[in-house]
Amino acid sequence: MHAARYHSYGTADVLVVEDAPEPHAGPGSIRIGVRAASVNQIDVMLRAGNLAQVLPLDLPAVPGMDAAGVVDEVGPGVTDTQVGDVVFGLNGGISGTTAEFAVLTAWSAVPEQWTTAQAAAAGLAGATAATAVGTLGDLEGATVLIEGASGAVGSAAAAFARAAGAIVIGTGTRSNFPHLEAMGVVPTTYGRGLPERVAALAPSGVDAAVHAAPAPSDSLPDIVTIVGKADRVVTVLGAQEAARLGARSVVARHDSALLRAAAALGQAGLWTPRVDHEFPLAEVIEAHVTAESRSGKVIVRQP
Ligand SMILES: NC(=O)c1ccc[n+]([C@@H]2O[C@H](COP(=O)([O-])OP(=O)(O)OC[C@H]3O[C@@H](n4cnc5c(N)ncnc54)[C@H](OP(=O)(O)O)[C@@H]3O)[C@@H](O)[C@H]2O)c1
Repeated sequence: MHAARYHSYGTADVLVVEDAPEPHAGPGSIRIGVRAASVNQIDVMLRAGNLAQVLPLDLPAVPGMDAAGVVDEVGPGVTDTQVGDVVFGLNGGISGTTAEFAVLTAWSAVPEQWTTAQAAAAGLAGATAATAVGTLGDLEGATVLIEGASGAVGSAAAAFARAAGAIVIGTGTRSNFPHLEAMGVVPTTYGRGLPERVAALAPSGVDAAVHAAPAPSDSLPDIVTIVGKADRVVTVLGAQEAARLGARSVVARHDSALLRAAAALGQAGLWTPRVDHEFPLAEVIEAHVTAESRSGKVIVRQP
């Protein structure tokens, strides 16, 4: 099969498109003919070798953790999908989806409201947001702050919190305010002065927060101060800073139930994953360079 791969860690130009062995669905997993895969920040960090000490890869590696496509193999024990279904999901590991075929260990049907590219952008972001918001318990009537609400994870977290009955204040760049307002989120900017801006928007206080800013981020202490109770703050960034402050830290659970919950948000019109840049597989280097520039969500399409 055609796949993007890298044989050594390094800058984006270590990526090549070449023939690679096809993966096959094992027990409890499915294989899809990939239509699109997303480029997440972790894919960039893994390829650069920044995580080689903690998450070493068997090289050559196919980048990508999430994708959308058409089921073409169903492993033993799988009963909730069949060949021909259009699904999105996660591969259960840290690499493998930027290819003609990918194995998924967690998946959901794609809601009819989403394009294939939007579905490809929903896997890791949706699962991370569901995991994070799920740690906050009942949010009916609560006021929730989402740092990075205009981003992939943050917009999904905002949608989960809104669906749970929360009033959501979300941070983003001013040009993204219309996107936040369309989701029913009260927008404000991130950065210096956040506690004062949030106090003006929520005079009765903030009950909980999700921190979904890009690394490195220095806003977690401010967010803990805003909420007042560290254990009502959950970050999707490093565990160390969270532990120092007494906040919670999560990594995405690769769980089909979370992806079905994300798809239900799409079905209800509460979340549309953002896609800012699409590249064909042949331009995977440009895709990674664009993802590094943090100018929005990047998708790699199969021919
Ligand atoms: N724990 C996990 O399992 C897991 C999984 C996936 C991602 N993550 C992490 O989650 C974070 C967000 O990922 P993503 O894919 O959602 O990224 P993204 O789509 O690039 O979104 C980043 C968000 O942060 C905002 N932002 C940019 N600079 C900021 C700053 N200096 N301070 C505060 N907010 C800022 C952006 O706002 P504007 O665009 O409006 O400027 C946007 O809302 C990343 O750190 C990623 O590594 C963790």
